[in-house]
Amino acid sequence: MRVFVTGLVLALGLAGLAHAAGDPKAGQGKAAVCAGCHGADGNSAVPNFPKLAGQGERYLVKQITDIKNGKRTVVEMTGLTDSLSAQDIEDIAAYFSAQAATVGKADPALVELGAKLYGAGNMAKGIPACTGCHNPAGAGNPPAGFPKLGGQHAQYIEGQLMKFRSGERSNDGESRMMQDIAANMSDAEIKALASYISGLY
Ligand code: HEC
Ligand code: HEC
Repeated sequence: MRVFVTGLVLALGLAGLAHAAGDPKAGQGKAAVCAGCHGADGNSAVPNFPKLAGQGERYLVKQITDIKNGKRTVVEMTGLTDSLSAQDIEDIAAYFSAQAATVGKADPALVELGAKLYGAGNMAKGIPACTGCHNPAGAGNPPAGFPKLGGQHAQYIEGQLMKFRSGERSNDGESRMMQDIAANMSDAEIKALASYISGLY
């Protein structure tokens, strides 16, 4: 009896674990439909399709779920997430998160302004430093769900900051963290930050 109970507790414990964490091996097959745009290893070749390689698992799960539920609109992905179960999403996120990400190269003419804003923000304009949440090297804060930015395509980053600024992207939670920050940025500041981030690692 004792042995049976221990075994049961262990089995339940493992089942709980298997659900909480995605399985990258299972995710590889499930991610095949994503490869055309995001790259088989999550390093997309097209600059307005985001790289998913090396991105935090928790952030990926949230975005895929938000896209599926219509909280974030990605017209290119229409219909692609409908049939994904919660476990499929966990598995796909685990797969992309485990891939090594490539890094781009910042435009030398934009580095100075980009680095200054990223590292120190602009107090007078109400722009906080990005480092506190996205890490000095752009690695993000995976357990908190704050996305990795470093090495991401500049065109994609620029597009997201524009969309946060206009409110077209509004899935940043009750606190509206990114919408409030982007609201205070000029086009030139967004371009400089996006370029700097693309070369950050
Ligand atoms: C036809 C092209 C296309 C396909 C196929 C596609 N996506 Fe996307 N995906 C996009 C585009 C474009 C965006 C960014 C849209 C924007 O500008 O906000 C995006 C954004 C995302 C994001 C948000 C990334 C971030 O950094 O916030 C995730 C996660 C994602 N896709 C996952 C997937 C998964 C998983 C699949 C497969 C089930 C998939 N995509 C298939 C085009 C595609
Ligand atoms: C207080 C924390 C915080 C600060 C400070 C912050 N961010 Fe964010 N940022 C977030 C969170 C959280 C998200 C994810 C929102 C979501 O879940 O969709 C995010 C998302 C983003 C994204 C979208 C990434 C993607 O893959 O789609 C970009 C781009 C971004 N932030 C840029 C910046 C820049 C540039 C700065 C500095 C000027 C900055 N952030 C400062 C918390 C922060």
